[in-house]
Formats: sequence, C-alpha cells, structure tokens
Amino acid sequence: MRYIWSLPNRVFHWGLVIFILIAYLSDDYLRLHIAVGIGVLSLVVFRILWGVLGIKYSDFKDWGKEPSHNKIASIVMGLILIDILLICITGLFSYFYNISEDIHEFFANSLYFLIALHLLGVSKEFLINKTNVFSIFNGYKKGEFESIKLNSFQKLISIILLTISFISPIVVFIFVDGNSDNYYELYEDD
Ligand code: HEM
Ligand code: HEM
Repeated sequence: MRYIWSLPNRVFHWGLVIFILIAYLSDDYLRLHIAVGIGVLSLVVFRILWGVLGIKYSDFKDWGKEPSHNKIASIVMGLILIDILLICITGLFSYFYNISEDIHEFFANSLYFLIALHLLGVSKEFLINKTNVFSIFNGYKKGEFESIKLNSFQKLISIILLTISFISPIVVFIFVDGNSDNYYELYEDD
C-alpha cells in the first residue's frame, strides 16, 4: 500500500461534500447558504493552489496519470472545480448586485449533473475495475508507486487555507444579512 492522498486532500474532499450538501439544502435560508457557499469557495481556492505546489499525484500535471485520477475522472473533477467557482461568483453577484439568480441556479444544476457523473465513475471503478476507492478515506492505494511526503511549507499552507475554509463560514454566518428581501428593498430605495 502506498500513501497517495495526503490528509489535506481528504479534508478538502469531505469538507466540500458536506458544504455542498448544506448549500443545496439551504437555498431558502440565505444566511446559512451564503456561509457554506463561502466555505466551498475557500476550499476550491485551496485545491487550486494545492494543484500547483508540485505535490505528487495532487498536482494538476499528474492528473490523468496513474495513480492519480484517470483521464475521464480528471476532466469531470476539473469541471467540478470550475463550475463551483462559477456558482460562487454568480451567487455573490446575485446577492450584492441584485442580479437574477437564474444563472447561479443553472450552474448549480450543472454541478448536480457533474456530481452524478463523478459518483457513476467512482461506482464503476469500485464495482467493475475493482479499484480501491477507499483511498479518498484513508489516503492509501495498492501499487508500486512512490508514497508522498509533504514539506513544511506545504503543511503550513494547508493548515492556513483549510483553517480559513472552516472558520470563514462561521464568521460569515454571524455577520451576513441573510434577509434578502430587506436587501432588495434597500436596493430599490436607492
Ligand atoms: C459564495 C457562494 C454562494 C452565494 C453567495 C450564493 C448566493 C445565493 C443567492 C443570493 C441566492 C438567491 C436566494 C434567494 O434570494 O432566494 C441563491 C440561490 C441558490 N443557490 Fe446559491 N450561493 C452560493 C453558493 C451556492 C452553492 C455552492 C450551491 C450549490 C449547491 C448553490 C445553489 C443554489 C440554489 C440551488 C439556489 C436556488 C435558486 C432558485 O431557487 O432560484 N449556491 N444563492
Ligand atoms: C458533493 C459531492 C462530491 C464532489 C463535489 C466531489 C468532488 C471530487 C473532487 C474535486 C475530487 C478530486 C480530489 C482531489 O484531487 O483532491 C474527488 C475525488 C474523489 N472522490 Fe469525490 N466528490 C463528491 C462526492 C464523493 C462521494 C460521495 C464519494 C464516495 C466514495 C467520492 C469519491 C471520490 C474518490 C474515490 C475520489 C478519488 C478518485 C481517484 O482516486 O482518482 N466523492 N471528488
């Protein structure tokens, strides 16, 4: 067994899953919705940085090659990251500039489709190709590849950015005005 997904990768993945689930369930409770949305945004910013720091298998250059994600999986995961950025940008625009949320909803619906593809791919790997998909839980995959080891700089970056990702939703939840009706009235009075 070789260690291929570091703890920050796994915290990112499962944090993303939980925050997206809450964002999906809370579209009628704007305060919570925006709070976890900011968490999702911070996690994706972390993952994009993590993909250019030269960490074996996590680096975007290694995507599509064994033992990182296979080619199709990499495309779907790349689209998931881009789509999440678009969702968060359009969400922020619809909150701050009172722009229609239709485009935000469109990107959210696209994300559900991409997640379904991702889960189909994971199930196929697990059931048909008998790949060890538990690596996303424990970090280990079978095979003769080199295990990863993070240097102090990479550890520090991950601690800072992941801490921000989990603290920012709490801060936003405390300070954001979740009452979009009030916001729109203020906007119209201008
Ligand atoms: C920074 C991140 C985000 C911000 C600022 C944001 C903001 C908003 C706002 C302002 C609305 C309109 C709510 C209303 O007035 O009724 C909304 C709706 C919605 N958002 Fe987000 N959002 C964010 C992230 C997300 C994420 C990650 C998802 C994905 C699951 C998502 C899915 C939705 C959905 C499905 C709606 C309902 C659209 C409708 O029913 O018309 N949002 N969001
Ligand atoms: C909201 C739902 C989900 C989203 C947005 C999502 C997104 C992602 C992303 C972006 C990656 C790449 C991670 C990285 O390179 O650091 C990934 C990998 C992975 N995800 Fe998910 N995921 C979701 C749910 C799940 C679930 C429920 C499972 C079930 C086991 C799962 C299993 C995996 C596995 C096994 C990998 C690694 C694949 C490989 O080794 O090539 N994901 N996911």
